[in-house]
Amino acid sequence: MKITIMGLGYVGLPLAAALTKKYQVTGFDIDEGRIQELKSGHDRTAELESSVLKSIDMKYTSSKDDIKSQDIYIVTVPTPVDKNNKPDLTIIEKASKTIASVMAKGAIVVYESTVYPGVTEEVCGRILEKESGLKCGVDFFLGYSPERINPGDKKHTIYSITKVVAGQTPAVTKTLEEMYSQVTDVFVAKNIKTAEAAKVIENSQRDINIAFINEITQIFSKLGISIYDVLDAAKTKWNFLPFTPGLVGGHCIGIDPYYLAECSKKVGHNPEVILSGRRTNDAMGSMLANQVHHLLSDTTSYGQAKKILVLGLTFKENVPDLRNSKVIDVIKGLQNFGYALDVVDPLADPAEAKKEYGIDLKDITDTSSSYQAVLLLVSHDMFIKNQENILLKLDKGGLVFDIKNVWNPKTISEKYRFTTL
Ligand SMILES: NC(=O)c1ccc[n+]([C@@H]2O[C@H](COP(=O)([O-])OP(=O)(O)OC[C@H]3O[C@@H](n4cnc5c(N)ncnc54)[C@H](O)[C@@H]3O)[C@@H](O)[C@H]2O)c1
Repeated sequence: MKITIMGLGYVGLPLAAALTKKYQVTGFDIDEGRIQELKSGHDRTAELESSVLKSIDMKYTSSKDDIKSQDIYIVTVPTPVDKNNKPDLTIIEKASKTIASVMAKGAIVVYESTVYPGVTEEVCGRILEKESGLKCGVDFFLGYSPERINPGDKKHTIYSITKVVAGQTPAVTKTLEEMYSQVTDVFVAKNIKTAEAAKVIENSQRDINIAFINEITQIFSKLGISIYDVLDAAKTKWNFLPFTPGLVGGHCIGIDPYYLAECSKKVGHNPEVILSGRRTNDAMGSMLANQVHHLLSDTTSYGQAKKILVLGLTFKENVPDLRNSKVIDVIKGLQNFGYALDVVDPLADPAEAKKEYGIDLKDITDTSSSYQAVLLLVSHDMFIKNQENILLKLDKGGLVFDIKNVWNPKTISEKYRFTTL
């Protein structure tokens, strides 16, 4: 079988690499820079090591001519929201148009991008049909298989996560089941809409659970109780769900609930819980900035521009992904209070940090040796390991604010003020 993966990002590249073990795979991406990078053996998403990339037998291309008449097209392009938090389907629509212009009779088009129920059949299927002149369900077929990878997670990988699969007909489902089971375990969902719905609720459920923890974190902070102490106690109950507080950014958990909310509104239901969770999580950055300001405002040097060292800019730990990072909300909040900030993130691309957020990332070796506060906002392993060296940069009496609770307070000198959420 000839398979083309449309979109070689965090999702598409590992999937393409896994399928090369059994099939003839072409990786298509409109970003020519990305194609050149991959050809040279470099993956900026850090999902595949250079040695692995170089050993893969796959054709990389930006040319439509190279993806004509494939048996299967798998679409792994972004599905973001617009500035009003409404699903922006333009990218997946464009990818569908490209496929329509090259596919032949008998093709199967599988979508892996996160969408809301109905997008595969009612949006993409119609585009494919209109642009190709072929009949959906007769001349070509649809499938949906949501992606569940967790970038930066070396335990839950494409080879160990169960893949939910649904096809337009039993025969298509069987073909897709066979293909994906070359990589991992497969669960066949009842139909395409069910598979779409399963994916979008997985991330929305996470968002709501984290929102609850973020809300009680704020309540307990006012009561002078640490959420982490509370969680240590509460999670001893067998059915307590051990979510932790934090900034919810990135391309999935902070976005997908808006897809669910949109489809809810389409059927006339007001998605109160879903959107309330989003509001709580989106407010977390400014809440943290206020908390830091409060903690710093009672020290003697208040009034002078205090210097703060911020650790981490990516949307979560151990990934280079800067998209929709909520660290920026903390940074902006503190800048508005007048603090001078240095931001360090060895995993993030400095050019992208400048372009996306206007931040000049610093190398830890180029930072000052006199800060009044160190904020650990993203718990990259390298920050955990280098705790001692990093804290040498803090003035006596300085604030150590570890929002992820990963530094061991027992190993932090008493000359600093240590706090967590
Ligand atoms: N990143 C994750 O952890 C993750 C996990 C599960 C699901 N998803 C979902 O998977 C989808 C892809 O996410 P991602 O993180 O891999 O995105 P990404 O931005 O890392 O990669 C997408 C790639 O698609 C390319 N692209 C854009 N338009 C294209 C087109 N018309 N034709 C071909 N290529 C095109 C881009 O250049 C980019 O390289 C999204 O719907 C996302 O919600 C992501």
